[in-house]
Amino acid sequence: MKVSFNSASDTSGARLVARIVEQDKLPADLDRANAEGTRAARFTGKAGQVFESFVERGGEVVRVALAGAGPNGDSRSAALERAGAALAAKYLTSGETSIALDAAGLDAESVASVLLGLRLRAWRHDAYRTRLKDDQKRTLAKVDVIAAPDGARAAWKTEQALAEGVEFTRELVADPPNVIYPESFVERCIARFEGTGAEVSFLGEKEMRKLGMGALLGVSQGSDRAPRLLVIKWLGGRKGAAPTVFVGKGVTFDTGGISIKPAAGMEDMKWDMGGAGAVAGAMLSLALRKAGANVIGVCGLVENMPDGKAQRPGDVVTSMSGQTIEVINTDAEGRLVLCDAITWAQKEFRPAQVIDLATLTGAMIISLGHEHGGLFCNDDALADKLLRAGLASGDKLWRFPLAPAYDKLIDSPIADMKNVGPRWGGSITAAQFIQRFVDDGTPWAHLDIAGMVWADKPGATWDKGATGFGVRVIDRFVRDTLE
Ligand code: BES
Ligand code: MN
Ligand code: ZN
Repeated sequence: MKVSFNSASDTSGARLVARIVEQDKLPADLDRANAEGTRAARFTGKAGQVFESFVERGGEVVRVALAGAGPNGDSRSAALERAGAALAAKYLTSGETSIALDAAGLDAESVASVLLGLRLRAWRHDAYRTRLKDDQKRTLAKVDVIAAPDGARAAWKTEQALAEGVEFTRELVADPPNVIYPESFVERCIARFEGTGAEVSFLGEKEMRKLGMGALLGVSQGSDRAPRLLVIKWLGGRKGAAPTVFVGKGVTFDTGGISIKPAAGMEDMKWDMGGAGAVAGAMLSLALRKAGANVIGVCGLVENMPDGKAQRPGDVVTSMSGQTIEVINTDAEGRLVLCDAITWAQKEFRPAQVIDLATLTGAMIISLGHEHGGLFCNDDALADKLLRAGLASGDKLWRFPLAPAYDKLIDSPIADMKNVGPRWGGSITAAQFIQRFVDDGTPWAHLDIAGMVWADKPGATWDKGATGFGVRVIDRFVRDTLE
């Protein structure tokens, strides 16, 4: 989506003009037919409502869209995003190639919010569709902001970086598992981060073996694909200040391994790298907008497959921390990947805090559905910051408990711990497992985003498919607490 800014309020030449309408404040300059039209259509300017009409202007017929931005109060930016998103949804394949967005009366931040919603909702992944009919093809490619307020271009620059991060995550998540696997995930990142100033590197299997990452490598050993530990560094903060580390679960396909999953719906497990995808996308946003913070992304990338070399239920593996794990269920692999990634990140970077993101448990979807990600945290101040960032960004989180009574449930009769507890509280015992690898005194949060990275129906600013969840809450957290 190309965006241009013009401070003049000239709409001549535009075929489609959009205006943003605050709820119950219809523009005073509507002609009689349009005023009656909005009443007849029950258009009041609720967030996400669109009213369309045609007017004659200087001999030309112009398509006019009024997009509702709700009442001017709390969550204003989210409502403005919805107005932009509604315009994108309506006109994406309409045949129109550009929208003239009349920004008269909007401040710079509001314009940026409308543009962000518009751009995010317009994202589609058509790379593998070779037979799209003309009326299914995307036509909308440009937004011309007219009557743009001072600072609109600068405000958009920040939000544009965010949009690019979200889109990168969506692309990684939506791409099929024969295209995105550990090595190609890394390659994508190396290519995408070029010129951003962020440093991308990785560890291969041999290096991980030397470091003793038996838990991560145990998951990978049934796959022909080589594992990777991806590292993305953005050091835009004070020199030498301890970094914040984000760790992502990147299981590029999760068959369950020998504890194999049922066939129905298994294709969904291509997005079992959604945590890693969110970390990579967030790092891209931070680098593109040159965030003033030291932030490092670490992604554990593996494929979980069953074969003659695959690990068995009952195997005992030794993690990099030295702790041993009885693998009861090879489908509880995410925690095995995360524990070594977290151990390594703590040793390597001595982080000020560690936040991991993972599509870790189906149980999370049972408890929170598709409205919140689960938050588990050993530090109340960090939890509050994340909850706040979630609310402000729209990537909402809900906090769950951690406690010794849950921790006991993963004790093993043969090793230091087992990788699953009883059926009940499955998301919590998974978090307890990860906590056993967090150094004493290190603030740590775990975001179980299993219900959030993929959507079966369109939402506020996304089409069905990959949502890009996680990028916005990380970006907001960094903006509000680290910069
Ligand atoms: N990747 C899955 C969790 C998942 C399931 C995410 C469905 C999104 C949708 C994870 O690796 C897994 O298989 N977890 C098991 C754990 C169980 C074996 C203790 C689960 O949730 O069933
Ligand atoms: Mn699994
Ligand atoms: Zn998994």
